[in-house]
Amino acid sequence: MSEISAPKGVRDILPDESWKWDYVFGVLRKTAADFGFSEVHLPIFEHTELFSRGIGDTTDVVEKEMYTFTDKGGRSITLRPEATASMVRSYLEHRMGTLPQPVKMWCAGPMFRYERPQKGRYRQFWQVDFESLGSASPYADAEIIALSLEAFRRLGLSRLEVVINSVGCPACRPDYRRRLTEYFSSREGDLCETCRDRMGRNPLRILDCKKESCRQVTEDAPSVYESLCGECREHFDAVRSSLDGLGAVYRLDKRLVRGLDYYTKTAYEVLSGALGSQNAVCGGGRYDNLAEAIGGPHVPGVGFAAGVDRILMVMEQEGCSFGKEPRLDVFGVALDFRSRAAILSVVDLLRKNGISADMDFNDRSMKAQMKAASARNARLACILGEDELTRGTVAVKDLTTGEQKEIAGEGLAQAVKEMLSTLKG
Ligand code: HAM
Repeated sequence: MSEISAPKGVRDILPDESWKWDYVFGVLRKTAADFGFSEVHLPIFEHTELFSRGIGDTTDVVEKEMYTFTDKGGRSITLRPEATASMVRSYLEHRMGTLPQPVKMWCAGPMFRYERPQKGRYRQFWQVDFESLGSASPYADAEIIALSLEAFRRLGLSRLEVVINSVGCPACRPDYRRRLTEYFSSREGDLCETCRDRMGRNPLRILDCKKESCRQVTEDAPSVYESLCGECREHFDAVRSSLDGLGAVYRLDKRLVRGLDYYTKTAYEVLSGALGSQNAVCGGGRYDNLAEAIGGPHVPGVGFAAGVDRILMVMEQEGCSFGKEPRLDVFGVALDFRSRAAILSVVDLLRKNGISADMDFNDRSMKAQMKAASARNARLACILGEDELTRGTVAVKDLTTGEQKEIAGEGLAQAVKEMLSTLKG
């Protein structure tokens, strides 16, 4: 143990797990390509203003959870708590409005939120984020939802529930806020302290409170549907009927409001029965006013982000396949002092021929080297000793069957390739 451990709420993804992450990213990358989304790499920190204006000042994320600091140039900088605002910033900054619309992009990477850590909730967590920018069409919403479901299907996730809602737009939300405030005022005594505080500032957020007493109050809260303007209602109906057309199963949830203020019209989440209280594997929706909120022109957009840490938790729990664990092709074993230098050349030759190979670097005994080979799950061992050096050969041992062959040095790479191609697993 070192005297310094990782900060609370962050974790290391070690080799026994990282190969599974590679598998998940491989599936997501292919799904993104199949749906016409291009990958982008965005900065991990941005000007704080991007998030305070984009996500909304009264959200928990901006009010309490951002990692914000002043850099050496005196600027306020924030480690990104999410990627949507950055994606829209990038779209605007690179004038992607001139490209054929919508522009469909995705990115992956760590996000940072100062939340109370618990199972499935970290202070540094990974998201894959998909955004479709430049279309107001309800089919774009349906495509986004279908994309998330297809990604989860390919990863083998079952026990999923899709919940959707419409949160209206600036034209109809004031009426809904008024109706909610009226209702919550009549039940103020039953609300928790945080929700009483939310009442004046952002009554929609009360619908999202997880406290039992507040949940009981919200059960009878007015539904958003009666407040939706004609345009939002029509849009929501079209999203639902195109989801029906795609065969997607979903539940309407009038209490789904999401924790970020930029949403307009569609909001949705995918919940997993395999997770505890942090059960959302993905969340998203439409955000037609976000570009304007950060000083750009009107750019309608819709997208989602999925939590990669949570996807892996669900996959482990549900026993999903991660494909084959990568194996080392060859472990080089040296039987004596003189062979140690020669085995490095053998390993180097194999690597240059696209064969994965490794060896011992600590002068260990043959027995210890063979143990290391099996600990690395190597398929073959290439063994060198006095006799092989004299004859200019290498002994190649199949570590599954124990069968051994002596191969001439010059034909080694080709012979190893042939042996590997006949091995199973
Ligand atoms: P979000 O709901 O805040 O939405 O996060 C999306 C997903 O990230 C969650 O469903 C969850 O799987 C994962 N997640 C969030 N916080 C944590 C955490 N502390 N630890 C582990 N996983 C976490 C957004 O971030 C929006 N930008 C989504 C979006 C994209 N909306 C439109 N486009």
